[in-house]
Amino acid sequence: MAHFIVLLGPPGAGKGTQAKAICEALGIPHVSSGDIFREHLSKQTELGKLADGYIKCGQLVPDDVTIRMIGDRLKQPDCANGALLDGFPRTIPQAQALDDLLAKMDAKVNPVISLEVPAEVLVERLSGRWTCPTCGRVYHEKHHPPRQAGVCDVDGTALIQRPDDQPETVRQRIEVYRAQTEPLVDYYRQKDVLVRVDGTQSIEAVKQEILSVLAGVQ
Ligand code: AP5
Ligand code: MG
Repeated sequence: MAHFIVLLGPPGAGKGTQAKAICEALGIPHVSSGDIFREHLSKQTELGKLADGYIKCGQLVPDDVTIRMIGDRLKQPDCANGALLDGFPRTIPQAQALDDLLAKMDAKVNPVISLEVPAEVLVERLSGRWTCPTCGRVYHEKHHPPRQAGVCDVDGTALIQRPDDQPETVRQRIEVYRAQTEPLVDYYRQKDVLVRVDGTQSIEAVKQEILSVLAGVQ
């Protein structure tokens, strides 16, 4: 049975950072709802323009649109043996829709890694984050600087700061996480698939802990 790994955690917890490293290590697809919305926005599609209205004020894109988009992505052949989900699901209806979809594919969610980081650390991480608009790799000016300031190590693209990383929007995103996404911790705990990981450790230590959790999952 194919396993879909879910990375759960507040904005800035390190989901994207770890997803890139884990997917490279295990050779599985990285499915990030935020990255897919941003890709649509860069192409100015209708979906991208709709999502942008929510993203820039720190609100969630409506469930029906998001569920349809991820459903289409998970039906692609590269996901047949599983994938790592980063930023989806984010609400109880999204989690239920994911369970239904995977049941039809004879697959399931396991494990769910909850990256735990306190709010004051999140704000500092997001204010120093720089992202590669080409490959999605994330850097931090203090904790994980690129070799050359402002340039992606891998493809040489000029790094950008995300518009939703302004402190006011970050606070809003953290509130939305607490209200709408944190209930998923209980949802998955009750299904006995939740593993909590201390996301305040170094990037490398978090990666090793996640890899050892994954090695133990049947
Ligand atoms: P999304 O893109 O998913 O953003 P997010 O959840 O807010 O998370 P971030 O990407 O900001 O943080 P991250 O956990 O990936 O941290 P990162 O690894 O970059 O979503 C954006 C928006 O899209 C949402 O607000 C919503 O509007 C919409 N959306 C997306 N999915 C949706 C859904 N399912 N439903 C509805 N709407 C949806 O790390 C952050 C920084 O910290 C980096 O600089 C990094 O270098 C640094 N760092 C990482 N780990 C460490 C460490 N261990 N130590 C020190 N620094 C570290
Ligand atoms: Mg991310």
